[in-house]
Amino acid sequence: MRAWPKGRLAYGGDYNPEQWPRSVWREDVDLMQRAGVSFVTLGVFSWSWLEPHKGEYDFGWLDEVMDLMAQADIAVDLATATASPPPWLTTAYPEMLPRTADGVVMWPGSRQSWCPSSPIFAEAARALVTQIAQRYHEHPALAMWHISNEYACHNLPCYCDTCAAAFRAWLRRRYGSVDALNDAWGTAFWSQRYTDLEQVLPPRRTPTFHNPTHVLDYHRFGSDTLLDHFLGEKAILADLSPGVPVTTNFMTMTQFRLLDYQSWAPHQDVVSTDHYRVATLPDPVAELSFQGAVTRGLANGAPWMLMEHSTSAVNWQPVNPAKAPGETLRDSLLHVANGADTIGFFQWRASRAGAEKWHSALVPHAGPESARFAEVCRLGAAAAALGELAGSRVEAQVAILLDTQALWAASGPAMPSTAVDYPEMAQRVHRALRDKGITADVVHPSADLSAYRLIVVPTLYLVTDDHAAAIAAAAAGGAQVLVTYFSGIVDEHDHVRLGGYPGAFRDLLGIVVEEFDPLLPGAGVDLSRGHGTIWSEWCRAVDAEVVATYTSGPCAGSAAMTRRTVGEGGAWYLGTMPDEATFDGLLNALVAAAGIAAALPGLPSGVEAIRRRAADGRSWVALVNHTDAPATMAVSGVDLLSGHATDGSLTLPRGGVAVVREG
Ligand code: GLA
Ligand code: ZN
Repeated sequence: MRAWPKGRLAYGGDYNPEQWPRSVWREDVDLMQRAGVSFVTLGVFSWSWLEPHKGEYDFGWLDEVMDLMAQADIAVDLATATASPPPWLTTAYPEMLPRTADGVVMWPGSRQSWCPSSPIFAEAARALVTQIAQRYHEHPALAMWHISNEYACHNLPCYCDTCAAAFRAWLRRRYGSVDALNDAWGTAFWSQRYTDLEQVLPPRRTPTFHNPTHVLDYHRFGSDTLLDHFLGEKAILADLSPGVPVTTNFMTMTQFRLLDYQSWAPHQDVVSTDHYRVATLPDPVAELSFQGAVTRGLANGAPWMLMEHSTSAVNWQPVNPAKAPGETLRDSLLHVANGADTIGFFQWRASRAGAEKWHSALVPHAGPESARFAEVCRLGAAAAALGELAGSRVEAQVAILLDTQALWAASGPAMPSTAVDYPEMAQRVHRALRDKGITADVVHPSADLSAYRLIVVPTLYLVTDDHAAAIAAAAAGGAQVLVTYFSGIVDEHDHVRLGGYPGAFRDLLGIVVEEFDPLLPGAGVDLSRGHGTIWSEWCRAVDAEVVATYTSGPCAGSAAMTRRTVGEGGAWYLGTMPDEATFDGLLNALVAAAGIAAALPGLPSGVEAIRRRAADGRSWVALVNHTDAPATMAVSGVDLLSGHATDGSLTLPRGGVAVVREG
C-alpha cells in the first residue's frame, strides 16, 4: 500500500485507460509526470472490462496500469468499478433496472442503470468488489478505495416494485406499526388511512399532490438505501484491505439534492466531493465557494478532497462555456482555500468517443502542446508549492445551518410559495459575508455550535426539537443568531408547529407570526428601511425590539426585522428577502454585535480572504480578487504561488489569486 501524496497537495484526476490503446498509456505516464500529477482515480467505469462475463475476470490490463502507476510514484484511488453495470448483467436480469414515477423503465445504454433496492445488483457488485480487493489490496500503487461513483446521480428516486417492497420494510423499521405511520403521515387527510403497511406504495404518479410526509420519507428511504450499498462495499474492503482509506465522491452542488450527506459523511475515511460550475447560476463562483464551505462542514472541519472539477468546459449543460485563462487556477485555489487538500479533475485525457467526448480534461483533444496543457502543468506546480497547507484547517467564526431533510421538506408538494428556495438565503448570506472578507462555515444543525460568534438559520423550515434547543442554547451562550423567514415551521414529520409561526423559534425570537403573505414573482413590499421580495407576513413582536416594519401591502405595520437580547447573545429575525443594501446593513449590525472582523483589516470589498491554520500555529491566507479592478490589501508574508514577499501590501489584478504564508 502507498501513502497518499505528502508534502504537496495531491493533484490528478479520473484516469480511464481502457478508452485508449496500450501505446497511449506510456505517454500518459510521461505527461502525468510532466504535469506534476500525484494521484489518479482508476477504474470507475471498468466493470464490463474487468468482468466481461459473469464470474470471469480479466485483470491483466489493470495489473499493467497499476504497475505503471507504482513505477511512476503516482498514488491510485482505486475504484470498486461498481458505478455502472455491464450489459451482460442487465440483459440477464432486466428486473434490476430502475423505473420512473410513471413506471417507465430506465434502460441500459447510458450509465447507472440499476435499481438502488435490487438484491441482484448488490450481489453482483459485491462479488466484483471482493475480487478487486483480493487482487490489489497489497499493490504498491494502492492508496485509497473509491466506492462506486456519485451515488444517486441518475438512479434515484426509483419507483419499481422492488423499491416498493424495500420501502415498506424501511417503514416497518421506522414506525413499527401502521398506526404510527398513519399518525406520522397525517393520513386522516384525503382518505389516505392505511390498514396494512402492504398497501403503501412509492409516491408514483398521482392525480394531484402527494402526501408530503410520504414524499419526505421516500427521500429518506432512497438516501438510506444507497448508504447501505456504500456500507456493504466498505465492509468487504475493511475485511480484505484493512487500513486503506475509503471514500465515495459526493456531489455538493446546489442542483443535486437527493442524498442526505450529513448521514453519509461519518462513514467516509476522508470526505471527497465533485464540483462543477453551472454557467446559468446567478453567481457560479460564489456558489463554488459556498459548496466548499458545505463540504468542509461535512468533513467536520478536516481537510477534504476535491475529487473532480473541470479544467474547462463540461458537456452536460445546454451551452458549455470554456474557462478563461487563469480561471482553473482560481477555481482550484478557492476549493483549497475552503479546506481541500486534493485537487482532482474529471478526467485525465479527453475521450475520443462516448457521451463525454466534449468534456474538458487535463490532456485536451489538441494534445499536450496546447495552452490548456501548459496551464495544467502550471497548476501542478502550484499544487506542489502549496504543499505546506496540507492538514491545516479553515478558520471561521460564522456558521450557516444547512439540513438536507429540511430542504426536502421545504421543497415538498403544495407549499405557500415555490419561490422560496432553501439554499438561496444561505448562499446570499455566505456571499455577502465573503464580500466583507468574513469566512462562514456551512454546518448541520447538529454540529457543535459553541465556537461560533454568529449563527445564521436560513429557511430552516423543518427543525427537530433538539436542533431548535441547540440553536437557542447557542444564543444563550453568547452567539448572535439570525433566523430567516419560513424557519422552524414543522417538526420532523412535516407537521405544523401550532400556536403561531415560527413554532420552534417563537420563544427564542420573541415574535408571533399569524399568517404568511408570500409575494408574487416580481412583486415587492416597502420596509421602514429598504425593500423586500419573495416573502411577507403578519408578524408581531411580543418580546423583541422591532428593527424594521412593512410599510406597504397588506402586512403594513407588522414587523419585518426584529432583535431580542438572549442571555449573553442575541436572536434576530428577518421576515422577507431584503434588497442588497438593507441586507448588508443587517449583516453589518450582526457582525458588529458578534464582534467579528474580516480575515485581514481594511480588506477591499469583493476580495475573498480565507485563512487556514496549522495545528502548530502557522497560518496562510488565500486571497481572490472577485472585483473588476486591481485591488490592494495589507498582508505580510510570502505568496507561495509567486514566491514573492508581500512586504506589507499586495496588489492583485482582477481575478488574481495569492496564498500568503503569514508572518
Ligand atoms: C461526474 C462524474 C464523472 C463525469 C463528470 C462530468 O462528476 O463522476 O464520471 O461524468 O461528472 O462532468
Ligand atoms: Zn427500484
